Amino acid sequence: MVDLAEHALPLLDEPVPAMFGDYRQPHTRRWSAVVDACDAFVFVTPEYNHSIPAALKNGIDYLYAEWGGKVAGVLSYGMGGGGRAADHLRVILAEVRTAVVPTGVSLAVFADFDFTGEEPGDPTAAGRLAPGAGRVEALSTMLTEIVTWSRTLPPGDRALVGSYGD
Ligand SMILES: Cc1cc2nc3c(=O)[nH]c(=O)nc-3n(C[C@H](O)[C@H](O)[C@H](O)COP(=O)(O)O)c2cc1C
Repeated sequence: MVDLAEHALPLLDEPVPAMFGDYRQPHTRRWSAVVDACDAFVFVTPEYNHSIPAALKNGIDYLYAEWGGKVAGVLSYGMGGGGRAADHLRVILAEVRTAVVPTGVSLAVFADFDFTGEEPGDPTAAGRLAPGAGRVEALSTMLTEIVTWSRTLPPGDRALVGSYGD
């Protein structure tokens, strides 16, 4: 489990674009080691104003080669399921050469979370995960696709990483 909040990356402060791999900041080198150690990813993201949160975009922008040639799935959540955030994330990950599997998981706040026992109208209520019909099956399919694709696409296969400007 990689929690962006625990890494507390500042807004991107590297002088050289990540595709050159010339990291100057200690926090970038630490973040690079964390992502580099992963074979594949499940991105869990809320939707903020029809896109992904700034912290997630920032965390992706810090690195380049560490994402490349790896497989990912997207689990989004939001008032309406976070589908627009998931769509944006797919486009962003394509640029860093991450292969995103077709099946995603989408959780809607008022359909897939249980707010029983929470104070009515409390805007800070988080609810408990209570996935609706088809959500668990979608998750299972997504994870199967990630494993299958990862076997086809060996982790760290930089041959698939194109040059900047493609
Ligand atoms: C700044 C902001 C923008 C949001 N924009 C959307 C949105 O565009 N679509 C949506 O479905 N939900 C939106 N929401 C609702 C969040 O997706 C929802 O509250 C989610 O549970 C937030 O996750 P978090 O608590 O992990 O940040 C927004 C929430 C915030 C804070």
